[in-house]
Amino acid sequence: MTTSTNQYQKPLTVKRNSDGNLEIGGCDAVELVEKFGTPLYVLDEKTIRSVCLDYKKSFEKYPNTQIMYASKALCTCALASILQEEGLGFDVVSGGEIYTVYKAGVDMRKVLFNGNNKSVDELNLALELGVGRISVDNFYELALLNTLAQGQDKTVDILLRITPGIECHTHQYIQTGHLDSKFGFDLIQIDEAVDLILNEYTNLKLHGLHAHIGSQIFETRIYKDEIDILCKEIARLDEKFGLKLDEINIGGGLGVKYIDSDVPPSTFEIGQVIIDKLNECVEKYNIDSPKIFLEPGRSIISTSGVTLYTIGSSKQVPNGKKYVSVDGGMADNPRPSLYQAEYYAEIANNKETTEKEEVTISGRFCESGDILINNIELPKIDEGDILCVYNTGAYNYSMASNYNKVCKPAMVLVNDSCADLIVKRESLEDLVVHDVIPDRLK
Ligand code: LLP
Repeated sequence: MTTSTNQYQKPLTVKRNSDGNLEIGGCDAVELVEKFGTPLYVLDEKTIRSVCLDYKKSFEKYPNTQIMYASKALCTCALASILQEEGLGFDVVSGGEIYTVYKAGVDMRKVLFNGNNKSVDELNLALELGVGRISVDNFYELALLNTLAQGQDKTVDILLRITPGIECHTHQYIQTGHLDSKFGFDLIQIDEAVDLILNEYTNLKLHGLHAHIGSQIFETRIYKDEIDILCKEIARLDEKFGLKLDEINIGGGLGVKYIDSDVPPSTFEIGQVIIDKLNECVEKYNIDSPKIFLEPGRSIISTSGVTLYTIGSSKQVPNGKKYVSVDGGMADNPRPSLYQAEYYAEIANNKETTEKEEVTISGRFCESGDILINNIELPKIDEGDILCVYNTGAYNYSMASNYNKVCKPAMVLVNDSCADLIVKRESLEDLVVHDVIPDRLK
């Protein structure tokens, strides 16, 4: 089976140039840093487009497939326009994500709104902007959405988010399909929900079922189990209610290669497994071939992103570790401290030395837990060296904070030796722009 982009550890265009510096998208990393500063998120457009193409090819044999990029992985206007150009739709989970893709000019019919506690304002925004599908998560939302739809005199196209009761081997914080998950209707609650939709909530039109098992998944088996459950439910609902559902959304979750020991399946492998299982279930349960939605986030954007940092202070603990500090850390990449996530890195500038050392890369934030990488072997480091951390495209900027009142980094998009700023670096003024001093304190 051919390798696909999600199985690479680095963006496709990464290489050493004639100066011995790392180059991404034809841009010298040292020059990027001189121009845009650090920390700097860098996104490689070729890698993004390549992974989209992989997904398209992987599902060629099942044309009724729609890839809905999970915007929570990284949501910026420039990225949304690239992905829209590549034919992807968007899974969004907040008014903020809806607004971002809308501002990027995305066709809102190709947007699907997920979430376990969508607010009235967010649902109204989704209705006003004509979001294509809303995945309804619970009974409260069914009633609320129906009322809002009545208020706008609209019929809303929905899916039902269900909890299929499947566990996957990933970090417990990023599992979602197990039985006591906070997301979705349990299998035994589906009939009640369907009954309400058919008989009471007449401004809702149910098209299908949605589930999402977890994230950074390497097992293909769980997708088979999930598809089986979804198709079986579709057949059962037809039999019980005479309801013809023709859409299933199997969520996201395909993993990527952060470190050498990560061996995710390729999109082609996942595609084949999904298509085979769908065809098998269509026959087994005697249903029409459903339209299938996938919501990959990480596997679309992780590999294309790197973060460049400048190395500052270091500390050799007597008889212990050597800490080397960078000018970012848990505020621009909270994943190591949240999920014990592991990353691979290289020194981006040319190092003449062949001497190596094992170091721990620590962040600049005021917490002992702010460690980006434990024990990594790198060429002997000097202050001012540039560190390139790989696979930071997903869930880094989107989860970044202003902890310690530190400005969020800039983001550039590189391609064919061009570097375009797509997210500006925050300024000190940005950090206080929402602060208000009440008159009585002045
Ligand atoms: N669909 C739904 C309903 C989801 O909840 C998620 C992720 C996705 C799709 C996309 O999953 P992906 O293909 O990216 O694995 N912050 C965590 C990941 C949380 C994922 C939450 N839901 C991390 O940094 O690992």
